[in-house]
Amino acid sequence: MPERKFRVWRGDDNGGDYESYDVEVEQGMVVLDAVHLIQSRQANDLAVRWNCKAGKCGSCSVEINGKPKLACMTRLNDYAPDETISVQPLKAFPVIKDLVCDVSWNYEQNKRIPPLKPKPRDKDGQFRMMQRDVDRVQEFRKCIECFLCQDVCHVVRDHDAKDKFVGPRFMVRLASLEMHPLDEEDRIPKIKEEFGSGMCNITRCCTEVCPEHINITDNGIIPLKERVVDRYYDPIARLLRKIRG
Ligand code: SF4
Ligand code: SF4
Ligand code: FES
Repeated sequence: MPERKFRVWRGDDNGGDYESYDVEVEQGMVVLDAVHLIQSRQANDLAVRWNCKAGKCGSCSVEINGKPKLACMTRLNDYAPDETISVQPLKAFPVIKDLVCDVSWNYEQNKRIPPLKPKPRDKDGQFRMMQRDVDRVQEFRKCIECFLCQDVCHVVRDHDAKDKFVGPRFMVRLASLEMHPLDEEDRIPKIKEEFGSGMCNITRCCTEVCPEHINITDNGIIPLKERVVDRYYDPIARLLRKIRG
């Protein structure tokens, strides 16, 4: 079996460095397979988080050769045979050990978002939605909370700006609620003031790394920014709101 060279970041919150490993690989292997081989044969104490090995749980997120990726969905043959594959934890979040980092900041952002507030039922006791409205929010429901988009976002990566912007994953959640056909909660003031929609400068890096191919920027963030602009900066809309009280 051919050998491949790997560099895996080892350490904790106090610091660490890459360690090199040579691994006998087989056809069809993904990066998570190689990490598991290293763990079973060369470094029993190597910490790595994973669950499904099918690209659906979002827990094996790491940076591979500097790019945020799911380790279970990244095939070794995506890299040249003589290329060293470097694996490190997500940079945007504090490391717990080796490849495992503490993503709890994301769960804190999630808790800040006002939940769905359904409008009253129709007179016959039913809720009704147009299929095209359902289709529009369906895309956002594919999120597996891998936080690769959070990791790549330069605002979330910047520790000084971190608490001014909830990040692309939660802009997606906000979009799914704001565009929900049955929701009547008004989150626009919070999206502007607390969740930091103005911090995003639409570089689309988040969309590029999303393993679920959610069009985060164009379908989620830009429509939310437009709603903020309509509310706060459109003079005609402001005048109409004043007239209507
Ligand atoms: S488009 Fe916005 S949210 Fe996405 S990575 Fe760029 S700044 Fe962050
Ligand atoms: S939006 Fe995409 S990249 Fe971001 S957490 Fe969800 S699945 Fe992952
Ligand atoms: S192990 Fe579940 S997404 Fe990779």
